Amino acid sequence: MTGQWSAPGRVNIIGEHVDYADGLCLPFAIPERTVVEVTRRNDDRLRLTSAFENGEFDGELTEIGPGSPKGWAGYVAGVLWALWEAGHPVHGIDLHVTASVPLGSGLSSSAALECAAAIAVDELFELGLPRTELAKACIRAENEVVGANTGGMDQAASLLATAGNAILIDTRNGDTRQVPFSPADAGLAVLVIDTKVRHAHADGQYGQRRAAVEESIALIGSLRDADLAAVAGLPAEIRPRARHIVTEIARVEQVVALLEEGRLAEIGPILDASHASLADDLEVSCAELDLAVETARVAGALGARMVGGGFGGSAIALTPLDRVDAVGDAVRAAFGAAGLAEPTVRLSEPSAGAHRDGRSLWRHRARPGCR
Ligand code: GLA
Repeated sequence: MTGQWSAPGRVNIIGEHVDYADGLCLPFAIPERTVVEVTRRNDDRLRLTSAFENGEFDGELTEIGPGSPKGWAGYVAGVLWALWEAGHPVHGIDLHVTASVPLGSGLSSSAALECAAAIAVDELFELGLPRTELAKACIRAENEVVGANTGGMDQAASLLATAGNAILIDTRNGDTRQVPFSPADAGLAVLVIDTKVRHAHADGQYGQRRAAVEESIALIGSLRDADLAAVAGLPAEIRPRARHIVTEIARVEQVVALLEEGRLAEIGPILDASHASLADDLEVSCAELDLAVETARVAGALGARMVGGGFGGSAIALTPLDRVDAVGDAVRAAFGAAGLAEPTVRLSEPSAGAHRDGRSLWRHRARPGCR
């Protein structure tokens, strides 16, 4: 049996770097998707190829484990490994990646790949698992096989988001809620600015921030319950890290309340405050992201912030529809003047989560009267 499945990348409206600290996040699925063609095999062999990345994998299920296979194939193989480890009856597959969320753009191309593979495997082997279980397998793939100690926001967004909505994810208990998010109805647009930079130290820095947050939790308990008075008692070197978590969770609550009251146009200053906290307290921004958000604001955006892990990647700018061109032009001009590569600026809107793409590739089944 063969089919094609796809899963989207994400941007996060607010709730950054809190998914490993019991926090709340509010991402939406973007229109850009990773597409995989997958064939179920009757043996335990995996043949994984990509039109986008080098390094195909051809091996057995038993060869998968922490650190193996290396590279992009680890995201796919890791999903099979996690499902198999959890006792589900999976076997080999042939998988080819035919389209991809832009790589390294901070828009969760890795989660999109994991999630596309996960829904394919779930269907091909008739596992019938809830999406929340598939998300857990994707997170294990990333944490244990690839070795990236990320939280679970990206996978939940890719698997559970729906068109027209942001998804509120409570990472303390895994609860999710769809929150209508339609900027166009308010005369606004979300611009995604891909800075095209990814600093080499990004992964190590992510791990260090997470370690500082975990140290804070060990001292004062869950930061979901902590207030700024408790944070003030933390050692100076980790205090700002914890302060980001506490203030960012409060900002998510404010944004959700405004959205539910139909006051989308008022969330801009909260996005700005989130960026400031990420830049100053968590220190995960970089010069290119700061330039993108600052320029976007000066050119008319109501609010702007970096998204994702930081140290490069993308920013979002909530922009009145009649300022979209001006903001794009200003950001491109500012990057040019600073001698940086031209960023891409595109409109984004909440799109569908992971799904199977049509039935055209499915093995032809004989119908009465057909041969
Ligand atoms: C990366 C991680 C996520 C999350 C964000 C920051 O995208 O994969 O789990 O921590 O950074 O919010």
